[in-house]
Amino acid sequence: MNFLQILLIIFGIIIALILIFGLPRKKNYRKPSIEGLDSPEVAAAFEKMTNFLPFKLLRRKVLSQLNLYNPIGTLVDIGCGSGNLIVEIAKTYQDLNLIGVDISDEILDLAKKRAFENYLNERIDFRLGNVEHLPFPDNSIDFLLSTFSLHHWQDPLRAFNEFFRVLRDEGTLLIFDFRRDARKFFYGLLKFATKIVVPKALKKINEPIGSLQAGYTLKEIRQIISQLPFNNVETNPFLAWTFIYMKK
Ligand SMILES: C[S@@+](CC[C@H](N)C(=O)[O-])C[C@H]1O[C@@H](n2cnc3c(N)ncnc32)[C@H](O)[C@@H]1O
Repeated sequence: MNFLQILLIIFGIIIALILIFGLPRKKNYRKPSIEGLDSPEVAAAFEKMTNFLPFKLLRRKVLSQLNLYNPIGTLVDIGCGSGNLIVEIAKTYQDLNLIGVDISDEILDLAKKRAFENYLNERIDFRLGNVEHLPFPDNSIDFLLSTFSLHHWQDPLRAFNEFFRVLRDEGTLLIFDFRRDARKFFYGLLKFATKIVVPKALKKINEPIGSLQAGYTLKEIRQIISQLPFNNVETNPFLAWTFIYMKK
């Protein structure tokens, strides 16, 4: 590599960093998004999108965060979608008792299929359920996890109180979701990706940009969780997403 090429690469990296971190955060009103991926076309299109590289990388990020908490006992994936994450968890944690919950029958069918294809159908129990009324008794779950689902919930405060009800004492809640006050660069990137790779059925319902617009800002999230009885509440925000961690 000659000097000019090295200079061009450094210049490219500087421009990329300026675009990613230099553009301000978006300030827009929240646009609620539909609950549940409840048509077979939308479910199939969503399943296709979750296999794109950026989603795989974000799942890896969630898995490495989960590793930090060393989960034991029963773990529930809330809004588990087509089951990518819970299947990965089942492969990594042989001793965990695993349950996936989702409001959509169509997407649960895809999750069951994925578990079956990975010979994990005996290990993962899938249940139809709504975050506001989880199909579990009080104090029965050790770990609750949820990714890219919070922005769909009609009443997050009710959902968080429901999580408090079903978690055992010392139980852990880990949520990962888009934040609406993402860097403007991320909005641009998502719009561009929508034009070239997003399946038609998702474009029709304004996804995935709709999920970003339906997300909560960091301030809103902190306002919601400040009303909860959990201990050790933490948020860990980045470019366009945040982790929310709580212990009962
Ligand atoms: C964008 S998908 C994310 C799926 C999966 N967690 C992932 O990361 O790939 C959001 C999921 O949340 C589910 N969902 C939305 N509202 C829900 C609710 N009130 N209760 C349970 N699940 C819900 C949807 O059906 C959908 O499968």
